[in-house]
Amino acid sequence: MTTINDVTDLTYDGEPGSGQIAVITLDSPPVNALSAPVRDGLWEAFNQATASDASAIVLICEGRTFIAGADITSFGGPATGKSLLEVQLMMENSPIPVVAAIHGTALGGGLEVALCAHYRIAVPSAKCGLPEVNLGLLPGAGGTQRLPRIVGPQQALEFMTTGMHVPAAECLDSGLVDALATEGNLRADAVAYARQLVAEGKPLKKVRDNDDKVAGARDTPEIFSAFRASKAARKWRGFLAPEAIIKCVEAAVNLPFDEGIKREQELFHGLVTSDESAAQRYVFFAERQVWKMPDVPRETEVLAVESVGVIGAGTMGGGITMNFVNAGIPVTIVETTQEALDRGLAVVRANYERSAKNGRFPLEDVDRRMAMITPSLSLSDLSDVDLIIEAVFENMDIKKEIFATLDDVAKPGAILATNTSALNIDEIASATARPEWVIGMHFFSPANVMRCVEVVRAKHTSLEVINTAMQTSKRIGKLAALVGVCPGFVGNRMLAQRGREAQALLDEGAMPWEVDKALYEFGFAMGPFQMSDLAGLDIGWSKDTSNGATIRDQLCELDRRGQKTSAGYYDYDENRTPSPSPITEEIVRAFAAKSGRDARTFTQDDITERLVLPMINEGAKILAEHKAMRSSDIDMIWITGYNWPAYRGGPMFYADQLGVGVVLERLKALQAEYGDMWAPAPLIEELAASGGTFASVPASPISTD
Ligand code: 3HC
Repeated sequence: MTTINDVTDLTYDGEPGSGQIAVITLDSPPVNALSAPVRDGLWEAFNQATASDASAIVLICEGRTFIAGADITSFGGPATGKSLLEVQLMMENSPIPVVAAIHGTALGGGLEVALCAHYRIAVPSAKCGLPEVNLGLLPGAGGTQRLPRIVGPQQALEFMTTGMHVPAAECLDSGLVDALATEGNLRADAVAYARQLVAEGKPLKKVRDNDDKVAGARDTPEIFSAFRASKAARKWRGFLAPEAIIKCVEAAVNLPFDEGIKREQELFHGLVTSDESAAQRYVFFAERQVWKMPDVPRETEVLAVESVGVIGAGTMGGGITMNFVNAGIPVTIVETTQEALDRGLAVVRANYERSAKNGRFPLEDVDRRMAMITPSLSLSDLSDVDLIIEAVFENMDIKKEIFATLDDVAKPGAILATNTSALNIDEIASATARPEWVIGMHFFSPANVMRCVEVVRAKHTSLEVINTAMQTSKRIGKLAALVGVCPGFVGNRMLAQRGREAQALLDEGAMPWEVDKALYEFGFAMGPFQMSDLAGLDIGWSKDTSNGATIRDQLCELDRRGQKTSAGYYDYDENRTPSPSPITEEIVRAFAAKSGRDARTFTQDDITERLVLPMINEGAKILAEHKAMRSSDIDMIWITGYNWPAYRGGPMFYADQLGVGVVLERLKALQAEYGDMWAPAPLIEELAASGGTFASVPASPISTD
């Protein structure tokens, strides 16, 4: 065996001079990403192997996967060592056949390397994908030009704009891989395959030369316009990469290979230097950071959760139930009346039927899923479950009563969780004699759709219970962030600041549709007033106590209670399309006149700043109080709990991009104009003084003070 460098070995299989096969083995944990040593090792190994008397070369990886792509940490850093292009040219121009042997995932640059081999063999469990789009990038190592030459432009568009991981069997069908190996026997099968290719005198197939599939699409430019207009395109608003990928595939169809590569390079450069991609790359790592808890060791026990109890069959309880059932975990759902139970289960069934109709699973599955839910009218039916989640309405006395009862009925070792979105969990836990088993699991609405769970650590919650709540959230496909007890926890505490300013803007004469438009343009799906109309303006409003003191009061008094009454902040037509309402406008103007502030017009930037800066300020306070472990956790809560646009990286990353000094300056200016609620958080002052960023603040355990 020749050791090329720390991560690359070269061995030979067979007798020298008699058709031996060179085997290049990469071993660069965790995922064999294409770092400089990997590229250098590959180049040198191919250089030596092609100069040897081997008759073919197999490229294979150690560890959990084939090459999973470029090293994402290295983007934007100085270029060192051999370039990926040099490695690819060495492979593609090899005078002897090169076979890529794939297990795990061949992703991004990893698949692009494999596409420069003359043949690809994969184990059945392997998957291939070009997921660069999720990082705000396009496949920039020839993938956009080679993939359409194998699978055709239509499939290539789908493949690259979704970033899907395609199973080996499908890759075999589409020609992306040439042969399947036996699971667990990849090395031997790949060597045998290489020998067979040599014996049969198979040609050195270069994907770049395969023009049939792209030439066939030259007369059908409408595939691109149709793709741009497709349903999927709506999801791409604000993201730069999908359009750049489409342009590359157009180049693959219309230009010679080398010119197509040049086009790919230009477009890749534009993306890799964009703020959007920087944000999405940050999100990639932030998603993986959330699970790391400074004072909860990795080896902390995860308790078995094989059955769950949910208390409350309302919107939240039903959604929470669906999450567990979808993951194969049976749920007992408890309500106070048969009517509420029936209503809740009917909503769950209707949701499942809709999913089945949309093709997510077969219609027969609806009954199978519903059968995993046991309805009950008694908390004592929860005596045997491993995890109980209370999801009744936000009333401390009721929650305490429920937890006191649970203390009597739940088995020892059951986790007692509350889905409260704001109440003090220490107080809820005080109703039990086992506060170490009490924790918050705050799901976001709709709970069966939104990925976020705030796992709320109370004063006495044990490490095992924390770890189990986090891992169980992961198991049901959620992104969980550990947070501390404070009013509204992380997400709603920041949202309250944004809500305060949205109302203040109206009081100063901004129209609800102007505020909503600013947030929509920023990248949110909708603004607070559209959201309010959707949810119902009368949530928490009472006719008996309403005295017209707020804009909302006045709207509700006019029976403008949101979409359900076809009027709220907006007017709605029969298709629920909103339009600005002259009545709302009149009310807003009257309030603005009363406020004593000069009526003014707001630019979109004014509004965005007024809504986003208070969130950042509150986020800084949360971080300083250690109610979140790190700033990127706050960002993930906003991305997965409120649909903050991923290409803006979350509020704290956005603040870092603006510059903490700029944030400080703007907060001070707003403080001078509007008063001390705008006083900058001390952490912002500190970071601005030291030139620091939120991302540079070290992770800290959650404070339980
Ligand atoms: N670069 C650097 N680090 C990477 C990486 C990459 N491409 N891919 C994964 N990692 C790191 C992760 O951050 C994580 O680090 P940590 O343990 O310190 O948190 C570790 O490797 C393990 O990753 P996961 O926790 O994600 O492990 P899984 O087993 O769950 O998943 C995976 C493995 C499917 C390979 C997943 O890591 C993944 O999807 N990776 C990214 C793939 C990708 O996007 N490739 C394209 C890169 S861009 C590119 O290639 C550009 C090219 O076109 C020029």
